[in-house]
Amino acid sequence: MPNRDAPDPDGPNRKAPNLKAVVREIADEMRQRTDRGEVASYIPELARVDAGAFGMAVIDANGNIATGGDSDVPFSIQSISKVFTLTLALGKVGDRLWRRVGREPSGSPFNSIVQLERECGIPRNPFINAGAIAVTDLILSGHQPREALGEILRFMQFLADDASITIDNAVAASEQRTGFRNSALANYMKSFGVLDNPVDYTLGVYFHHCAIAMTCRQLATAGRFLAHLGRNPDTGMSVVPPERARRINAIMLTCGHYDGSGEFAYRVGLPGKSGVGGGILAVAPGKASIAVWSPGLDAAGNSHLGRVALEALTKRMGWSIFGQ
Ligand code: DON
Repeated sequence: MPNRDAPDPDGPNRKAPNLKAVVREIADEMRQRTDRGEVASYIPELARVDAGAFGMAVIDANGNIATGGDSDVPFSIQSISKVFTLTLALGKVGDRLWRRVGREPSGSPFNSIVQLERECGIPRNPFINAGAIAVTDLILSGHQPREALGEILRFMQFLADDASITIDNAVAASEQRTGFRNSALANYMKSFGVLDNPVDYTLGVYFHHCAIAMTCRQLATAGRFLAHLGRNPDTGMSVVPPERARRINAIMLTCGHYDGSGEFAYRVGLPGKSGVGGGILAVAPGKASIAVWSPGLDAAGNSHLGRVALEALTKRMGWSIFGQ
């Protein structure tokens, strides 16, 4: 017979896990792991990054921040920038954006071109490279490339409440020299009339916003509006309406990790967006904004230990959106 009076360690009165201790614990565990994945090398400048780096920052609903490892070392945010360009473009053109870009998972690698032909140059979603290039093109329209880039950078600085955030020009130049795939994608879309601006201009802005460098702490701060119905709970400043925040989170969940999105949802259970710099921004709605960085990637181009660390975090904190 179970003893009804004994406290149930998993019951409603169980002690809430201590976030700071959990994050420190995970950072220590990740430091010791030897399975780190492969650092991206198709952008030569990214291959110079220390594969042993690991950082994590978690900001809860009250603004408490828990950090571990290299949480204050800037890294190339790469495709994580696509979350913020999508936010900006939706602000600029609203639902008209969906005439240019779909919102279905692609089940293909981030730089794939195969679906574009069958689907008349309309990219599957805003997070694969083709989709993000189409989104950048919308932001660029009516501006000079320098102005559009300035707008994106200032948006990041505003969200992260940190004017020191900059673009790593060496990374941008490195990708510009070697970005033949992206050139192919952009030219292909241009042939279908999906891009309005000169291909070189759109790609220039795209490569540079991918090359924004941020720390885990800055990125977690920038993502807070997605965790809290479109508002920064500290300042009360509204970035997007609640409905838009919910929808961006939905696209992050279904498309944020390309053909690894199913696995990420299965293991971590949070909306998340990865970048080939090894960063992941993840959102626990109502609970926390999380940034993690480990440069080694898995076969789908997503941070290997970043995913492992997030899996450990959601498990220990009970934060999966699908239940504990
Ligand atoms: O366009 C590219 O290939 C890079 N600037 C961004 C790709 C990326 O981050 C894929 N994510 N894991």
